[in-house]
Amino acid sequence: MNEPQYPVIEVQPEWVLEVEAMGSKEKFWYRDREDKADWLFKYPKPGTGQHWAEKVAAEIAKVLQIRHATVELALFMGSRGSTTESFAREGRNLFHGNQILAGSVRSYGPSGMFRHSSHTLDNIRVAMDRTFAYPHGRERAKLALAEYLVLDALIANVDRHHENWGLLRKNADGQWTGFVAPTFDHASSLGRELLEDRRELLLKEGRVGQYVEKGRGGVFWAEADKRGPSPLELIRRAIKAYPDEFRPAVEKVARFDRSALETILKRVPEDWMSRLEREFTLALVCYSHHEMAKLLT
Ligand SMILES: Nc1ncnc2c1ncn2[C@@H]1O[C@H](COP(=O)(O)OP(=O)(O)OP(=O)(O)O)[C@@H](O)[C@H]1O
Ligand SMILES: [Mg+2]
Repeated sequence: MNEPQYPVIEVQPEWVLEVEAMGSKEKFWYRDREDKADWLFKYPKPGTGQHWAEKVAAEIAKVLQIRHATVELALFMGSRGSTTESFAREGRNLFHGNQILAGSVRSYGPSGMFRHSSHTLDNIRVAMDRTFAYPHGRERAKLALAEYLVLDALIANVDRHHENWGLLRKNADGQWTGFVAPTFDHASSLGRELLEDRRELLLKEGRVGQYVEKGRGGVFWAEADKRGPSPLELIRRAIKAYPDEFRPAVEKVARFDRSALETILKRVPEDWMSRLEREFTLALVCYSHHEMAKLLT
């Protein structure tokens, strides 16, 4: 059976609420009067496929049953973009990775020597251990983050910096409760920045894997490192260091198959992604998937 094409939401000017200052790209929050939730409209960086990357990444997360923000393709006054449903509702707000790390990790603290390389997997794990009071909460948080990092490896998301993950917190009767927020901001994935002739060349020369391996992720391995490993290399190291967290996540992703991605790509309206963008996305995910499956043998 043919699945229907993804809808394109036409965002109306009278729905606009406020501009979102966080993050690097132009975007705004809005609410359709019919809807209970706020949505974030994001313009892609000109000349890139960040909008379709957001949508395809969210659909991959959905198939894998990894908690993610819902994304739709969207149009605002003739401009194409993507739109993301807010998960900060019912009194919950997003407490970003850097805020969590500031309370738990020395290099992020007031007297620390913070650098981007302080955003290491070890520091993130320490922060989870110090944030959650009960072992069950800690384990759950670390498992969720492992799933997000494995998703990043599958889609070559190179932008998992410390404001691109967080906890959803709520204060009720003076008591904080919280859990890891659904994964969001996958705009920098799936080779979205490539120009068509480069994409074509990489495909023709069988160098998609090389492209994946060269990417630098937002999570570092050691604070002293100048650059983060690729999201895929991070998982190769993490599954050895923390098999209890990363093996289940890699097993989950290993169940994904080519036909699931082909279905997702078929559902993206014809003129929203070129033939090469679709072909490259397929080759990229297949490469990463194959590399991760190797880690389970
Ligand atoms: N689904 C969501 N629910 C609640 N808040 C969100 C959601 N998506 C994004 N945000 C908030 O909006 C900010 C900006 O969104 P996002 O990270 O998607 O934008 P960006 O410009 O692509 O960021 P970057 O600088 O990382 O490229 C996030 O850091 C987060 O605080
Ligand atoms: Mg962001």
